[in-house]
Amino acid sequence: MRRKLAAGNWKMNGDASLLGELAQLAGQQSDTGPEILICPPHTLLAHAVSVTDGSPVGIGGQDCHAAETGAHTGDVSAPMIAATGAQAVIVGHSERRTDHHETNADVRAKVKAAWAAGLTAILCIGESEDERMGDSTLEIIADQLHASAPDGTTGDNTVIAYEPIWAIGTGRVPTLEQIIETHDMLRDELVGRFGPEAMTIRLLYGGSVKPNNAADIFTADNVDGALVGGASLAAADFQPIIDALAAS
Ligand code: PGA
Repeated sequence: MRRKLAAGNWKMNGDASLLGELAQLAGQQSDTGPEILICPPHTLLAHAVSVTDGSPVGIGGQDCHAAETGAHTGDVSAPMIAATGAQAVIVGHSERRTDHHETNADVRAKVKAAWAAGLTAILCIGESEDERMGDSTLEIIADQLHASAPDGTTGDNTVIAYEPIWAIGTGRVPTLEQIIETHDMLRDELVGRFGPEAMTIRLLYGGSVKPNNAADIFTADNVDGALVGGASLAAADFQPIIDALAAS
């Protein structure tokens, strides 16, 4: 059975005071609940690893460069993230694809860099509002999936996060039927390409997941958890989402 995963993406938020929230979150988890991953800014990675040490909460980065080292001012490589004790890294988030013009080929290279450093890649895909309105969602995200996921993708090295761009930070979420449709299609595409083993690849939904809508979203068979932005910043908001996932 796929282990459920509640992942938090702090984005460009968080200072040392948020580490108190993280310590609280880590202290209140049981070993039998869903897997939990928090992705703070790079500046807090090592601190976050130390305050969650020995707890069921894992730590991840939010992006990595495709190269291991080199003349890339301001960038951080996957081995550097791994050296902090982090175990995962988000790649291909729509904010990176938009703000930094990252292509599917760029994202695929980052996934491979993550794997080479021993990190799990949390690979994000999702359609824009225009693409949703134009009825091309399934085609667009299938293309993104295949172009961004390298050969060799498995349930051990990769998690796929489906995040409709128009749902991120807006308070708008797709209908449950739309979430089921996209996640079922993604599962079929993964199994078609990687074989029956792809049943173990976790598929997260992301985009305005909140305590009041999480339980409904988690009823979908091929939703194995969530990638949560705003509601991952406070333990009081994230915990009910973790609890809804545990109960699903
Ligand atoms: P949100 O962000 O939960 O604040 O909508 C989700 C994400 O971008 O990962």
